[in-house]
Amino acid sequence: MSTHIAADAGQVAPRILLPGDPLRAKWIAENFLEGAELYNDVRGMLGFTGTFRGERVSVQGTGMGQPSLSIYVNELISEYAVQQLVRVGSCGALTERLALRDVVIAQAAATDSSMNHHRFQGFQYPATADFTLLRQAAEAAEKAQVKHLVGSIFSSDSFYHDRSDLTDTLVDFGVLAVEMEAAELYTLAAKHNRAALAICTVSDQIVTGAETSAQEREQSFGAMVTIALDAMLS
Ligand code: HPA
Repeated sequence: MSTHIAADAGQVAPRILLPGDPLRAKWIAENFLEGAELYNDVRGMLGFTGTFRGERVSVQGTGMGQPSLSIYVNELISEYAVQQLVRVGSCGALTERLALRDVVIAQAAATDSSMNHHRFQGFQYPATADFTLLRQAAEAAEKAQVKHLVGSIFSSDSFYHDRSDLTDTLVDFGVLAVEMEAAELYTLAAKHNRAALAICTVSDQIVTGAETSAQEREQSFGAMVTIALDAMLS
């Protein structure tokens, strides 16, 4: 048992999916994994382990934002020896090249977070995905004919921004979408020599103001989970 995860060593699989929402973790466990068993409900941050195509896979909620994700990912790596970590989340599209429900496979994550600011004392750290997972996810998305873009995203500490000029600048430099966790996931994976990737479905179009319904979110979330599992197991 670690500070925030009530599992015995060995109860968490080396491959893990990381949705922000713990109820998404339950939904993934029930709909994609065979024989899934709950290993954690501390703070309601549900975690399950089951099998997919005969291989053990876990799914763990991380909460929203980099500080929350950091707690779970630190413990999953240090206490449970997790090797491959794939975030499956939602994002806001910053470009009209993305429509609602499209998938973004995050090659790199810019951030306004103070976490890397303090960690690197003002240096700009390149938070990047594991190349093998990235390539396999892109191939899986192509095979499944899921509309997707591979590129940079912005991991923000704020969901509600008081000013839009920073995001405007990021858009000018090719950043596709905004979410709140990937940069810390990539940084921790690099520190511990693990493989990480973030895949996000577009839940809101920030340029046009369009938003998905709850049902649409569920359907598009399923396509992304399939891509994530394919990427980990190919
Ligand atoms: N901002 C940050 N995170 C998000 C958003 C957003 O607009 N949409 C989905 N996750």
